[in-house]
Amino acid sequence: MKGSDFSQRLIRWQKQHGRHDLPWQNTRDPYRVWLSEIMLQQTQVVAVIPYYARFLTRFPTLKDLAIAPVEDVMAQWSGLGYYARARNLHACARMVMDTHGGAFPTNPDAIAALPGIGRSTANAIAAFCFNAHVAILDGNVKRVLARCFGIDGFPGAPAIEKKMWRLADEQLPTHDVATYIQAQMDLGATLCRRGKPRCDVCPLQDLCVAKRDDRVVELPTPRPKRAVPEKQVTLLVLLREGAVLLEQRPPSGIWGGLLSLPELPIGASAKFHARNRLGCEVEQWQALPDLAHAFTHFRLHISPVMATARQLPHLSEPGLRWVAFDSLANAPLPAPIRRILGTIKPAAG
Ligand code: ADE
Ligand code: SF4
Repeated sequence: MKGSDFSQRLIRWQKQHGRHDLPWQNTRDPYRVWLSEIMLQQTQVVAVIPYYARFLTRFPTLKDLAIAPVEDVMAQWSGLGYYARARNLHACARMVMDTHGGAFPTNPDAIAALPGIGRSTANAIAAFCFNAHVAILDGNVKRVLARCFGIDGFPGAPAIEKKMWRLADEQLPTHDVATYIQAQMDLGATLCRRGKPRCDVCPLQDLCVAKRDDRVVELPTPRPKRAVPEKQVTLLVLLREGAVLLEQRPPSGIWGGLLSLPELPIGASAKFHARNRLGCEVEQWQALPDLAHAFTHFRLHISPVMATARQLPHLSEPGLRWVAFDSLANAPLPAPIRRILGTIKPAAG
């Protein structure tokens, strides 16, 4: 693609199809633009509109915001969520009053140094209000760039983010930067959406790598899933006279309050555990096939070890009980434990 194709198509599209009447457009008042950008960081346009109007009625200028108690600011914000935004907004207003004499800074670096304003938001404010020649890179822009230029990798990862900033800087047009920025925001919100993008009417459709390669659904690359931790337990299947020894689980944690097979401490043999903890001799012990069970936060590998008790021991521990195989159907058993017990044919007794 020609170097300027991307930006020129977006600018042309914005003029014809973009949004022009949002309450924070058609103003260069940095207070109003800044407020809108903060509200729009994690909230959709339709939800922001009424809050934005009420907020400006209560705090018409940056000075009104700065002199208000923080509780009033929080009250106006309540319902919008992500309340650190409101706290930072108030701190930022005070800082502009105290260290910039009440005049919002015009330089992108100075704006980015204020509380709650990141690089992309600072650049958007500087471009919208002061004609700064700087690129933005918010979530919408990352999605458009990842798809249009076919960039693999999670855009939140520092290396990918750096690459995208470079690309965003390269694509920046020489003129109409404010229109270009608004175009990226509008395209990301209305056509190049996360779900069901409208490639059929997109001005970038014949440049777009993701569309050409049929990779629109897989770009941008999602956040990598954290590796699931693995845990391993050995469970004792102790049999005696048509019954199996079960233990009630503690009320909280996995399988809370359910009946399960007693756990063998790591490294303990079934034989010694039975002798020392249960006071009984075991015989005919054998390993049963392993099985795995997926919990939300980890994967459990279960190695069952089966043995037969030579005599019925007196159970001194409160959670332990013998449960007859023919009453297992009604016992509160976790599915993997039921599966293990379902594989065993108890000796008649
Ligand atoms: N999202 C973030 N900034 C925006 C803006 N200026 N207009 C519309 N949506 C936005
Ligand atoms: Fe996004 Fe589709 Fe346009 Fe590509 S063609 S930029 S995927 S809307």
